[in-house]
Amino acid sequence: MTYDPEDETPWAALPAPEVLPVQRMLEEFDVVNVLAPLVRCSKLPFRHLVSLYETHVTTTPMILAEEFSRSQLARVSDFSTSANERGVFWMEPRGRGLDFASLSLDSHPEDVEDAAAAPGPSRPPHKTYYVPPPHTRLPPTATPPTKHSRLVRGALLAQMASPNAASLADAAELVAPHVDGLDINCGCPQRWAYAEGIGCALLRKPELVADMVKTVHDRLGHGFPVSIKIRVDDDPRATETLVRNALAVGVSHITIHGRTRHQASTEPVSLPAIKFAVDLVRGEVPTVANGDLWELADAEKMRRETGVNGTMAARGLLANPALFAGYATTPQHAVENFVNLSDDYGFIFSLFHRHLAYMLEAHMYKPEKTYFNALASSVQVIDYLSGRGLDFVTPRKVPMWDASRGYSLLA
Ligand SMILES: Cc1cc2nc3c(=O)[nH]c(=O)nc-3n(C[C@H](O)[C@H](O)[C@H](O)COP(=O)(O)O)c2cc1C
Repeated sequence: MTYDPEDETPWAALPAPEVLPVQRMLEEFDVVNVLAPLVRCSKLPFRHLVSLYETHVTTTPMILAEEFSRSQLARVSDFSTSANERGVFWMEPRGRGLDFASLSLDSHPEDVEDAAAAPGPSRPPHKTYYVPPPHTRLPPTATPPTKHSRLVRGALLAQMASPNAASLADAAELVAPHVDGLDINCGCPQRWAYAEGIGCALLRKPELVADMVKTVHDRLGHGFPVSIKIRVDDDPRATETLVRNALAVGVSHITIHGRTRHQASTEPVSLPAIKFAVDLVRGEVPTVANGDLWELADAEKMRRETGVNGTMAARGLLANPALFAGYATTPQHAVENFVNLSDDYGFIFSLFHRHLAYMLEAHMYKPEKTYFNALASSVQVIDYLSGRGLDFVTPRKVPMWDASRGYSLLA
C-alpha cells in the first residue's frame, strides 16, 4: 500500500473528532500524553510537531501574566497558535486497554460504524463528517485500531505565571479564546521567579492559588478549565493544603512534578512522592505525573506506580519528539517535519537550531555535534541535513504511527 498524501478518500468517511476538555480526556482514556510547558521551547512549531506523534495535550511555555496583559510586544512574542496545531487521535477508552488482537491493517468501515453505534454519553451524533484539512491533521490511520477507539481532537493549554489573581485573570481573558484551558505555574524553581512571588513561591501560598483559580472562573465562567502544575514538597502538609485548597475551588486537573523545589533536574524523580500527592487528590479530579519520562516504558511505570491519569514529558520530548509514538530516538521524518513546520510558521534561528541539536543529539558523534552547533543560519542547517540524506521537499513518505504497536500505514 502506498500512501498518497493527496488522496483523502480513506479518511473521508470519518466522523468529526470529539472535542473534549482535558479533564474528560484524562478521565475517559487509558493513555493521555502531555507535552510539558517549556520556556522558549514549547512554541507553536514544536507543539505542532509533537502532536503528529501521539502527544494528545500540549502546553505553551510559561507566560508572565502581567507582561502579557500590559504589553503588545509580550503578546506577540509569547503566544502564537494555529487552527491546525492540535492533533487528531484514536484514543482507547479507559479500562478497555489496547486490544492487540484486533489490530489489523484491514479494519473495515463496519468497525467505524460499530464504534459509532457504541453507547457512551460523550459520543457526539455522527451527522457531520470529518473533511480533513491538508494532510497534516489526519489521524494516523483511516481505520480505528480497535472497535472501541474514539476519534478525538487534541488540546492546547496556556501556562501562566502570576504573583496575583487579578493579573492572571486579565491575561487569561486574552488567551482564552485560543486555548482549551489555563495552567497555573506553581513549580518554576528559579531564584528570580521565587523573588517575584511566582512559580514555586505559590507552593506555600495555597490561599492565593485558590484565589487565582476562583478569580479566573469568576471572569471566564466555570466552563473554562483551570489546572495547576506543582512540585512535590519536603513538607507533606504543604502539598496537602495546596491540593485541598485547589480542589475546593474547582481546579480541573493537577500535574505533579516529582521533584522538590530544591532538587535539580539531574536528581531522579520520586514516584512515591507523586503517588502521595495523587492519593491526596482522592480521584476528585484527574492527575498528571511529570519527571524523567524518557521512553514509553517510563510512562507505563508512572501510571502503574502512582495511579495518575496522564503523563507529561519535557526533556524526553525535546530529545525525541516522537517518544509517545513509540520511537526510541528521533526518527528522520520527525526532523523533516520539524524543519517544514518551522519554515511554515516561522521560527527564530536560535530556537530552530537548539531544537534540532536536542533532537539529533543521539544521532551525532562529538565532532559532528561541534560542527552542527557552529552552524549560523537556517540555510546552513538545512544544507547540512540535506547532505545527510534528509528530504524536506517530497511529501511525506513514511507513516506517522506508533512503531511500538507494529502497526503502520505503509506496512
Ligand atoms: C528548557 C526548560 C524549560 C522549562 N520551562 C517550564 C515552564 O515554562 N513552566 C513549567 O511549569 N516548567 C517548565 N520546565 C520544567 C518542565 O516542564 C518539567 O517540569 C521538568 O523539566 C521535569 O520534566 P522532565 O524530567 O520530563 O524534563 C522547563 C524545563 C526545561 C528543561
